[in-house]
Amino acid sequence: MFGDVYAHRRVFVTGHTGFKGSWLTLWLLDLGAEVTGYSLGPPTEPSLFEAAGIGRVEAERARGAGRFTDVRADVRDRRSLGQALEMAGPEIVFHLAAQPLVRRSYAEPHLTYETNVMGTVNLLEEVRALAASGRGPRAVVNVTSDKCYENAETGHAHVEGDPLGGFDPYSSSKGCSELVTAAYRRSFFSAPGMPRVATARAGNVLGGGDWGQDRILPDCARALSVGVPVEVRNPGAVRPWQHVLESLSGYLWLSANLWRGAAEAGDKAGAFDGAWNFGPGAECNVTVREVVELFTNEWGGGQWRPAPGAAQQPNEADLLVLDAGKAERELGWRAAWSVAEAVAAAAHWYAEFYRGARPDALLTHCRADIAAYCDAAARSGAAWASSEVQA
Ligand SMILES: NC(=O)c1ccc[n+]([C@@H]2O[C@H](COP(=O)([O-])OP(=O)(O)OC[C@H]3O[C@@H](n4cnc5c(N)ncnc54)[C@H](O)[C@@H]3O)[C@@H](O)[C@H]2O)c1
Repeated sequence: MFGDVYAHRRVFVTGHTGFKGSWLTLWLLDLGAEVTGYSLGPPTEPSLFEAAGIGRVEAERARGAGRFTDVRADVRDRRSLGQALEMAGPEIVFHLAAQPLVRRSYAEPHLTYETNVMGTVNLLEEVRALAASGRGPRAVVNVTSDKCYENAETGHAHVEGDPLGGFDPYSSSKGCSELVTAAYRRSFFSAPGMPRVATARAGNVLGGGDWGQDRILPDCARALSVGVPVEVRNPGAVRPWQHVLESLSGYLWLSANLWRGAAEAGDKAGAFDGAWNFGPGAECNVTVREVVELFTNEWGGGQWRPAPGAAQQPNEADLLVLDAGKAERELGWRAAWSVAEAVAAAAHWYAEFYRGARPDALLTHCRADIAAYCDAAARSGAAWASSEVQA
């Protein structure tokens, strides 16, 4: 998988205690990478990081898992970040640490910009310093969001060249993080031998172990686990649904190509630098109601009802759609799971958690999800699953 780029590779992941970061750390360790995570503590209680014992995966080195170093510190603290990067000497960096909640960004805009914008500046500055000493990483992937685009709410599927923007502080902080990354790339990282830097834009993702605020699947799992109906705020709203492993396969494949590209003497142009959308297919744009019904079926029964004051009508106006055509054409990446498969995987994970499964059982479950997803990706013809590096 991923052209065997990750075995014994030193990889630095910010935000490793979060939902996406936990899945990414597990996947990297199982690919044999030497991972340094840099992050504050898990942002939710419960959390995937603690529930599945992600921090203990390295104890399984005998079965091929890579080495894991868990650094708990703040991306706003440039000195700590620099020291951790210096210690880790990474070859590949994934930047996921962020304040990722729209609602919290209204309450704490300053914290959101400080974390999401200055956190990115701090990371790129420290990467620049490492590169100047000849110890820079070859590949950096900054994880932003589909919300980085100026959303005219026309239903137009955004392509990478569309104007950036963002209405609320969170969305605009991700647009800013994109602009900062582009400026650093043009100003400091365009010469041969410098780190190759890309940004990855995906929408909201779902999957086992997410307890993020205002997310429908955690709401479903919490309600069904105590036998009460799920209260649904926007049953008619159409959303693009994507499993977390879809976006992570995009990040991993993008950085594998950046890494290989940077290793090629002829890659003066930095073929994979720039911005990339990793969105689901159009068939994954379905209503919240359909997703809740898929979830309750997979759970084995349960009721839902509109929350008091919930909108009843289909609502596509605020649908944010990504066009992933560039990733398909140039990376051979494609979405592999239908919305039904994605929701089923998540529902089974939550059901196991709420039945009281122990961390090792949940970890096994995560690995089974990764294996099933890899099979689906190989069947769909995704280039990363067939080991062909395109660079
Ligand atoms: N989950 C989604 O649906 C989604 C969609 C689009 C983009 N994203 C982006 O993906 C990334 C990961 O999102 P997630 O859902 O896993 O979020 P999460 O809240 O689960 O995890 C965020 C991580 O960042 C860390 N963090 C927060 N502030 C920090 C700071 N000041 N210093 C160091 N670490 C800090 C947290 O400790 C945690 O490890 C974020 O950049 C987010 O904006 C997520």
